[in-house]
Amino acid sequence: MGDATTTTGPAEAELAEAGLRLELDGAVATVTLNRPERRNAMTFATWRGLAAIGRSLPAGVRVVVLRGEGPSFSAGIDLGMFSGGGEGFADGADAEATDRFIAELQEGYTWLRRPDIVTVAAVQGHAIGAGFQLALACDIRVIADDTGFCMKEPALGLVPDLTGTKPLVEVVGIGRALELCLTARTVRADEAARIGLAETVVPRDALDGAVRDLVEALLAVNPGATVATKRLLWQAAENTLDEQSAAERREQIGRLREMFGK
Ligand code: ACO
Repeated sequence: MGDATTTTGPAEAELAEAGLRLELDGAVATVTLNRPERRNAMTFATWRGLAAIGRSLPAGVRVVVLRGEGPSFSAGIDLGMFSGGGEGFADGADAEATDRFIAELQEGYTWLRRPDIVTVAAVQGHAIGAGFQLALACDIRVIADDTGFCMKEPALGLVPDLTGTKPLVEVVGIGRALELCLTARTVRADEAARIGLAETVVPRDALDGAVRDLVEALLAVNPGATVATKRLLWQAAENTLDEQSAAERREQIGRLREMFGK
């Protein structure tokens, strides 16, 4: 975003190979899916590259924006990988090896929930399959009014396995999640906003500005309170009221010590 500085070093070529671009601008990291000529279709290298970005994020980064270059956020898995006879896929014959294989790819998504960063998906055009799941892996979704979300995997004989099923159910509920996945229909922007899949919907040409405004607002809040509050909110659904109340107390003690401790 803006006058961001592109990272240098060996990782840059590796990321370019994976269809990714990383820009660091102070406390903001912008990760761009950068294969617009393929509608940002993603390969195994893309997911490994995302995991590598998560592992190597500088300590000062507070907000990560995930965006897609060109008309679409992401058309999901690169279908060319299937036409190669599935080469490079673990085929499930060895369950343990396949489990490890998928777990490694999932690491490209799970870091986006880390409490030390707030992650924002900036979505336009299509967000299909693995692309939809990437948006779901982020904390907040800001979308353009031309967005269509589609969980295509079941229509291709697969299940969504890039960590998307949990946030989908959390956001829209089990009935709607079933209906969306088992019909593989496309959810348009207005419905997405209505059912909670997007926090904000803006005209297509206002997307970058809306994301910039959101990032600015996020950065204006106390960093320690942001981390503690994200940690707190993400456990709320699983905790009992007693557990969550105790978690609030624990976090507040940490805040009070940091703010007023000697
Ligand atoms: N994998 C590989 N190439 C793709 C993919 C993909 N997932 N999606 C689009 N492309 C390519 C197209 O083949 C086309 O290439 P070409 O210019 O050489 O013909 C180029 O990107 C542009 O695609 P168009 O279809 O022309 O673009 P359009 O904007 O009209 O449509 C759309 C975009 C809707 C995304 C369409 O391309 C599509 O349906 N793609 C497949 C989506 C899909 O099934 N993904 C898998 C989901 S399941 C999962 O992710 C696990």
